[in-house]
Amino acid sequence: MSTDLRAALEFAGALQRVLSLKELVEEAWRASRSHTRYPHAWLCLFEEGNTCARVVQAAGEHGDFVLANCPLIPVAGDPMVQAIVEGRMPVVVVDAATDPRTNKEIVARLGNRSIVNVPMVLGPTLLGAFGVGTFGDEPAFAPTDDELQFLTVLGVQLASAYSRLQLLEERRRDAAARDHLERHLESLQRVEIMGVLASGVAHDLANYLTIIQSNVGLLRPDGGEAAVLADVDFAVGKAREVVQQLLALGRAHGARREPLDLNERVASTLHLVRSALPRKVRVTHDAHAVPRVNGDPVQVDQVLANLLLNARDAIGPAGTIRVGVDEQLLGAAFVEPHPWARPGRYGHVSVADDGCGIPPEIMGRIFDPLFSTKSRGTGLGLAVVSRVVRQHEGIVRCASTPGAGTTFDVYLPAQAA
Ligand SMILES: Nc1ncnc2c1ncn2[C@@H]1O[C@H](COP(=O)(O)OP(=O)(O)OP(=O)(O)O)[C@@H](O)[C@H]1O
Ligand SMILES: [Mg+2]
Repeated sequence: MSTDLRAALEFAGALQRVLSLKELVEEAWRASRSHTRYPHAWLCLFEEGNTCARVVQAAGEHGDFVLANCPLIPVAGDPMVQAIVEGRMPVVVVDAATDPRTNKEIVARLGNRSIVNVPMVLGPTLLGAFGVGTFGDEPAFAPTDDELQFLTVLGVQLASAYSRLQLLEERRRDAAARDHLERHLESLQRVEIMGVLASGVAHDLANYLTIIQSNVGLLRPDGGEAAVLADVDFAVGKAREVVQQLLALGRAHGARREPLDLNERVASTLHLVRSALPRKVRVTHDAHAVPRVNGDPVQVDQVLANLLLNARDAIGPAGTIRVGVDEQLLGAAFVEPHPWARPGRYGHVSVADDGCGIPPEIMGRIFDPLFSTKSRGTGLGLAVVSRVVRQHEGIVRCASTPGAGTTFDVYLPAQAA
């Protein structure tokens, strides 16, 4: 075995320890520089069934330049790349400017002189090619037999190291997807549990509240007691709101369904909510044509009211809430994270405020029941929104920029035309 070959095998260990494509190429570049005279290296991968080649990493003085300027190379029009794909053997170009197999446009753009590309083959699969070479004023020369042998062995090692990286990446992605799913399930379970609890206690609470309120109404206070009773009345009113939310959270599946006009729902909810808004909070309703959706008007109004009240709380004394209604066509990729929803036509309501925004660290929790950042919040508003929208086979999404504002988008499936 030649010394160079032995050295190449020694690099195998180092290559198996790398954790990224960049490290892989850096390591291969170190190896090729110490055993060949070529100062630059790159790695290209074949895409779309080996019809295109893309340089994905490059090392050496020109590395960043090559990476930024080398276009996606269609294999069909490039005999040099074609020779690698078809022959799966090293391809040596001594002078890129005159060799008939090179793509002259790319050579002019990158300033290539000599190019040695070795294939990265694993079993029957061609994964990519590792290349070394010279650029610009550097000399053009052919590799010696030892150099070429070294590079060929390096190509084989790179193929196995690269496929190991791919495996690692797949495992990372699987773990991340599993994590995400577990968190999602956890929060859905919490919503379910709240729903069961809620329906159990809400009816009883509503009855007790009715008794308290009617008895308060019978009292004939004088002097300071009037203020005390006003406080009691206020508290009972707030408690009723909470009960309403709990009832919505616990309401069984298959609630009322009727054709709803979302512009009408927005207009009537705005009418109700307006009195609860500070004077300097402006609300606009941008109404576009929208198909009817199948829904429970009380529940849909509750969704809208919760979003509007949250917007109000986020804005403070002055600001703008923009409500938009229109039709949206949702594709498979959009609905995919929401397994109960199907691609198709949706009625879409957006509620955008220019309030405080939501810090990214709490974004994942806002739909959880009982999660609230407000001193007097129940944390049920968005849990209701999420549950109702889901029962309607719809989607709710939130986007927020801290300091600039928040937009909630609600999509409800359109009735079949
Ligand atoms: N438009 C918004 N802007 C900024 N933060 C928001 C917005 N909407 C919701 N949030 C955040 O999400 C949290 C949960 O909202 P949710 O409506 O579930 O409960 P809440 O508003 O705190 O309580 P309740 O709805 O019972 O008054 C809020 O406490 C707030 O931190
Ligand atoms: Mg709320």
